[in-house]
Amino acid sequence: MAGNRTFTMIKPDAVKAGHIGAILKMMNDAGFKIIAMKYTKLSPEMAGKFYEVHKERPFYGELVEFMSSGPIVAAILEKDNAVEDFRKLIGATNPAEAAPGTIRKLFAKSLGENAVHGADSDENAKIEGNFHFAGTEMFD
Ligand code: RTP
Ligand code: MG
Repeated sequence: MAGNRTFTMIKPDAVKAGHIGAILKMMNDAGFKIIAMKYTKLSPEMAGKFYEVHKERPFYGELVEFMSSGPIVAAILEKDNAVEDFRKLIGATNPAEAAPGTIRKLFAKSLGENAVHGADSDENAKIEGNFHFAGTEMFD
C-alpha cells in the first residue's frame, strides 16, 4: 500500500546557508520517498496565498516577505504516517524548543527563519502539494 503524503519546503534561510543537501539527506535517511520536487521562488503574492491561514497574525507580513526573499525547494514526500513523522523530523516551530537532532534544531536560525515547512494535516498536505505541483510533476 502506498504511504501517506506530506508537503515540505526548504525555506530561503536554509537555501542561502547551503543546507539543501544536508536537509534532503535527513529526509531520505528518515525513509521519505520523493514524489515531486522543484527549486523555485515564491512571489510575494504566492507566499501570501500559501500562508493565508495566518493572515490575521501579527507576523504575517514578515512571514510573506521572508518566504519570497529567495529561492526555496518545494517537495511532496511519501511515507507511512508522513505528516506526523515529518513534523517530528523537523522539530518545534521555534528552534530554541526543537528536540536535538531535528532539522530545525540543526539548521534553523530563529522562530521566523526556521529552515523548513511541514504540512500540519493530510488535508493541508494535499492542498499545499497541489498548490505547487501539477499532476504531471508527481511520480509514484
Ligand atoms: P510551518 O507551517 O512553516 O511548517 O511552521 P509551523 O506549522 O511549525 O508553524 P505555524 O504556526 O504554521 O507558523 C508558520 C510560520 O510562521 C513563522 N512564524 N513566525 N514571529 C513569529 O512569532 C512567528 N510565528 C510563526 C514561522 O516561520 C513558522 O514556521
Ligand atoms: Mg504550519
